Amino acid sequence: MKKEERLLRIGIVGLGPVSQAAHLEACRRGRNTELYAICDLADDLVTRMAALHQPQSTYSNFDRMLEDPRLEAVIVATSDAFHVPLAQLALAAGKHVFVEKPLGLDVEACMDLERLVAASGLVLQLGLNRRFDPALDFARRFVAGEVGKVDALHAWYCDSIARYTMTDSVQAIPVTSAGARREPTDDRARYLLLTHGSHLLDTAACLAGPIEAVQARRREALGGYLWSITIDFANGALGHANLIVPAAGDFEEGFQVFGEGGSVQGRLALPWYRKAGTVDCFSAREGIYRRPFGAEGDTYKLQLEAFADTILHGAPQTGATVADGVANLRALVATARSVESRRVVALSDVSGTV
Ligand SMILES: NC(=O)c1ccc[n+]([C@@H]2O[C@H](COP(=O)([O-])OP(=O)(O)OC[C@H]3O[C@@H](n4cnc5c(N)ncnc54)[C@H](O)[C@@H]3O)[C@@H](O)[C@H]2O)c1
Repeated sequence: MKKEERLLRIGIVGLGPVSQAAHLEACRRGRNTELYAICDLADDLVTRMAALHQPQSTYSNFDRMLEDPRLEAVIVATSDAFHVPLAQLALAAGKHVFVEKPLGLDVEACMDLERLVAASGLVLQLGLNRRFDPALDFARRFVAGEVGKVDALHAWYCDSIARYTMTDSVQAIPVTSAGARREPTDDRARYLLLTHGSHLLDTAACLAGPIEAVQARRREALGGYLWSITIDFANGALGHANLIVPAAGDFEEGFQVFGEGGSVQGRLALPWYRKAGTVDCFSAREGIYRRPFGAEGDTYKLQLEAFADTILHGAPQTGATVADGVANLRALVATARSVESRRVVALSDVSGTV
């Protein structure tokens, strides 16, 4: 594990499952990141995670953590409802922010956050980690450089009926606390669309450009839901996305892209396996397929290293920006509105929440 000389001093707020399975280790392993501070309202969680991960300082109050002048950046890993308010506090304290997806729950509140980021000059990156899978990263660059104008996209995201069997075998046993603060997730369809659909719609936008409008249908299946989403892209491309939660089979995310200069077909594995996806990219110009080998498949670590590179060295932001987060939430809200109305819904027309 090689560390660079200059490390970004990161504090994590929210020590629930995603921090335990991803962010705490990612900060420690990242070549340019340091797990500097941790914070949770649940004291017992803070004590347990501090014993395991040895940060410089620990907090049960987020405002106190933000007062530390040596703290440079914050990871907001709380439930969705608290993303925007905690990100606002961090920016106001002059800290860069990495926010878990989705950016927030309300379009207007996310637009306010976008204005705040612009005024602050600070970096905000969203935890849409699939962008850092080497297969999707290669596909994005291949589409931009070789395919050119995209005509059609097909994307799918299938959670698995065996999801927890799969994650239980690779994740550390989670530490829970009665003192942890969570928003209720009683509306299961809404929760599933937000938590999984955010990845699916971001992958679609990464590959085919901004989404202009959607028409969506939803069905109950296998004790969960499936969404069938027809997409109009701003560049005129047509798309279709399926979100199936859960599918009677393996976890899988996939995509196909067709354009003038070639085509792309890729599949991503369960991200907790830290195994890069596979992608075959056909160049019409060369008449050959190209397939990259992604030796490093830990998207959670890669996204933090990119975040730190942007802050420490001014590298271009490859992770999702706050504008990407607003567009992503608009696409989710438009999907929900279209399910209700059965009509095509333009992203520019939506407001409020999913
Ligand atoms: N990118 C991914 O692959 C991925 C995977 C899982 C979860 N997530 C996202 O991560 C986020 C967190 O998920 P989770 O399951 O870990 O959440 P969780 O709600 O189970 O845990 C969050 C923790 O944050 C703490 N918290 C809440 N408000 C706080 C505050 N004001 N100050 C200090 N601590 C506070 C809670 O006490 C809790 O311990 C969600 O937005 C989810 O969508 C992303």
